[in-house]
Amino acid sequence: MIIFKSINTLIKEVNFKANIGFVPTMGSLHKGHVSLINTCKKKCKKTIVSIFVNPSQFNNKNDYKSYPRNIHNDLLILKRLKVDYVLIPSIKNMFKTKKEMKIPILNKYKVLCAKFRPGHFEGVLGIINKFLKKIRSKYIFLGEKDFQQAYLIKNFIKRKFKTKVYICETVRSKYELPFSSRNVRLNKEDLLKASKVSQAIKKLFFLIKKNFKNKDKITEIKKFIKSNNINLQYLEIRNKNNLSTNFNQNNFKIFVAFFIKKIRLIDNV
Ligand code: PAF
Repeated sequence: MIIFKSINTLIKEVNFKANIGFVPTMGSLHKGHVSLINTCKKKCKKTIVSIFVNPSQFNNKNDYKSYPRNIHNDLLILKRLKVDYVLIPSIKNMFKTKKEMKIPILNKYKVLCAKFRPGHFEGVLGIINKFLKKIRSKYIFLGEKDFQQAYLIKNFIKRKFKTKVYICETVRSKYELPFSSRNVRLNKEDLLKASKVSQAIKKLFFLIKKNFKNKDKITEIKKFIKSNNINLQYLEIRNKNNLSTNFNQNNFKIFVAFFIKKIRLIDNV
């Protein structure tokens, strides 16, 4: 495994004519990342993993400062997985000017997380753009847990790069909670509480699949979540193909964001 601190040094080392896969991360690696990396290793000849807590995608300074970081453990995991290349750049290495930190998104996509985290996805696209301008990989691997992120990145890449987006299924605990770097900031009791939300949206999903009229049961699910002392930010059903509210029994997806203590978690099914 070779570790690079500079993206320019990395690209000198890698032969992008070969089948290269790229897994961008913000570190604090968990089973979701492991699944992305293992999928990449199966599909590609060489795997690049980046660890970069991207400041331009945090709409809150404290959230950026307190975002979990665990580089020592991350490197142990990546070594064990036999990843070929790891990129750990500095902010200066990635961004030269403030302007290049953000790429605008269309107003129609300013829903769900984009509505509550203004500038977040613009920052995500900013860093993806910086990465892919240099890392001309055949594939990029993203998790379905961050569905809106994956959707916006996929649309953006399609317009600008040859890289193909591969979206991997969400990895969940036995209680249905998706793995997330932010979970490390919660205790056992909090995690069980958070799992109730994932269990509830899964139940709603199957109810709607059975009978479309059950979409109105969303009100009961909201009540249930709030009755567990969970601060619900949004619970919405949308069309997974365009994120609009015009959905049917075959294309709907349920999206949720909530806080446990001050930790913001998201899920979708
Ligand atoms: O999902 C993440 O960890 C980040 O948003 C990403 C895609 C690595 C961009 O910083």
